[in-house]
Amino acid sequence: MQPSAQPAMSLYALELLDTCHDRAGFCSGLESVDRYFKETARGHLEKGISVTRVLVEVDAPTPKAVLGYFTLSIITIEAKEWPGVPKGLPKQNVSAVLLGRLAVSESAHGKGIGSMLLATARQLARETILRTGGIGLVVDAANEQIIEFYAKYGFRRVSQEGLRMFLPAASLEGGTKIPSE
Ligand SMILES: CC(C)(COP(=O)(O)OP(=O)(O)OC[C@H]1O[C@@H](n2cnc3c(N)ncnc32)[C@H](O)[C@@H]1OP(=O)(O)O)[C@@H](O)C(=O)NCCC(=O)NCCS
Repeated sequence: MQPSAQPAMSLYALELLDTCHDRAGFCSGLESVDRYFKETARGHLEKGISVTRVLVEVDAPTPKAVLGYFTLSIITIEAKEWPGVPKGLPKQNVSAVLLGRLAVSESAHGKGIGSMLLATARQLARETILRTGGIGLVVDAANEQIIEFYAKYGFRRVSQEGLRMFLPAASLEGGTKIPSE
């Protein structure tokens, strides 16, 4: 893959998913994340299950075309043996932030948007953890190929068999972020 040039941040806005966003028109090329975005993300936001943020162009006409999105929520996990986790965790489950979904519109792939969205998700996870506690950011990679994408940003697999990956709280900072609300 060609190295991706970082897009100018001032062209973009990060917004909470709302009815003004064109959910139906979004296509990342991965059916499961597209279906979640069209059918489930808003309901989950309204019910407090997770929060989905979308990237749009500043001044985009309504319905606003979505360039990418990510979804965050809080989970509790047993993580004693995970890479980068401090020794001596209690026996019971501990909190972490889950990056439930991350996707970029197929037409915008390869422009550095995925990297920017991930840096922004990491920043939001860091702020949450500083306020409420938590051991880091968890992601369930959609397939083996995507493992490489997350590994580039420091995420490590938590076991050889599964697709779950983890970035400890101490490693969340870094990367070009999109200013958020
Ligand atoms: C994965 C995805 C979010 C990447 O978004 P993107 O905007 O195209 O990525 P970027 O342009 O920011 O690329 C950042 C880096 O990741 C690399 N990369 C991009 N897609 C990759 C992939 N599928 N596998 C491995 N590396 C990848 C790029 O080469 C680039 O590396 P570089 O900095 O060394 O040049 C996007 O391809 C996507 O939405 N895919 C479909 C949905 C999906 O799979 N989501 C993940 C679910 S867990």
